[in-house]
Amino acid sequence: MTKPSILVCRAVDPKVIERLEQHFDVRSNQADEAWSREKLIAALQGRQGLFATGGERIDADLLKACPQLRICANMSVGFNNFDVEAMTAQGVVGTNAPGVLTETTADFGFALLLAAARRVSEGERYLRAGQWKRWQYNMLVGHDVHGSTLGILGMGRIGQALARRGHLGFGMKVIYHNRSRLEASVENETGARYVSKDELLRNADHLVLVLPYSNASHHAIGASELALMKSSATLINIARGGIVDDAALAQALRAKRIAAAGLDVYEGEPAVHPGLLAVPNVVLAPHIGSATGPTRLAMANLAANNLIDFFHGDGPPNPVNPEVLNGLVA
Ligand code: 8YV
Repeated sequence: MTKPSILVCRAVDPKVIERLEQHFDVRSNQADEAWSREKLIAALQGRQGLFATGGERIDADLLKACPQLRICANMSVGFNNFDVEAMTAQGVVGTNAPGVLTETTADFGFALLLAAARRVSEGERYLRAGQWKRWQYNMLVGHDVHGSTLGILGMGRIGQALARRGHLGFGMKVIYHNRSRLEASVENETGARYVSKDELLRNADHLVLVLPYSNASHHAIGASELALMKSSATLINIARGGIVDDAALAQALRAKRIAAAGLDVYEGEPAVHPGLLAVPNVVLAPHIGSATGPTRLAMANLAANNLIDFFHGDGPPNPVNPEVLNGLVA
């Protein structure tokens, strides 16, 4: 029997490629060349599966140009690169990779929070520039994390992992806003209290964004939301670019409307708004929230599981449009 043919469009751990090769005819991009969309479409010709990283736009035009494609498996929890409606209409399954990166990404959220609130990056730049000549009472004073109020916008797995860290590790008061309120048992365990978005913005000392990107969450934090925040507050975005209006944030940081920010994601990344590059009170990371060896491997293996289970007819573990699998769509 001929094996299904799949494309792995970016370099991943060779162990994952070897595993995929046991099930599929695999074309991979282990040289990690930067492929244009045209190149991606050309490489997908005649292939039934795509192992994607979360950055490849899968929309009606691509699906039309790749009629044999049956599944796109992201090695990311976010799947805003999928036009889910177009995929569902074409009967193409999309899968993501939730769960395996939760704790690693929550760790990174705290890394940015601590670095921003306690001015770690500013301090390092100051030291490296040879500006540290003597101790000063007010030198690089920041804001406390322990005992403060942690605000979380988006209370899925990563939001809850952040809440636990804040509540149990740093003795923080935790407030959150989400599309739906958590069950009381989860609220108790995470120490989190549900509040309106307005209350969240007004009361958080440190506000972390972990909601998925969609049309509804586009610019969920813009000038008017920043205007409601405490002037001593920090804002952390480990979710997706586009949730924050980066121009408005740069302006708020420049004007000290809020104290600091920590960002892992940007509108139009890898480009970063020049206004953010120009202000000192923001910690900037290049989208590395899930970047530890074991977690990257677990993410890649989960994407591989989704492809393997799909083609074995077992149903992939993480479909984002399960109705395609249920045969409701032709
Ligand atoms: C990925 C992420 O590294 O899982 C996600 O949604 O944002 C990151 O963990 C990124 O999407 C690139 O694959």
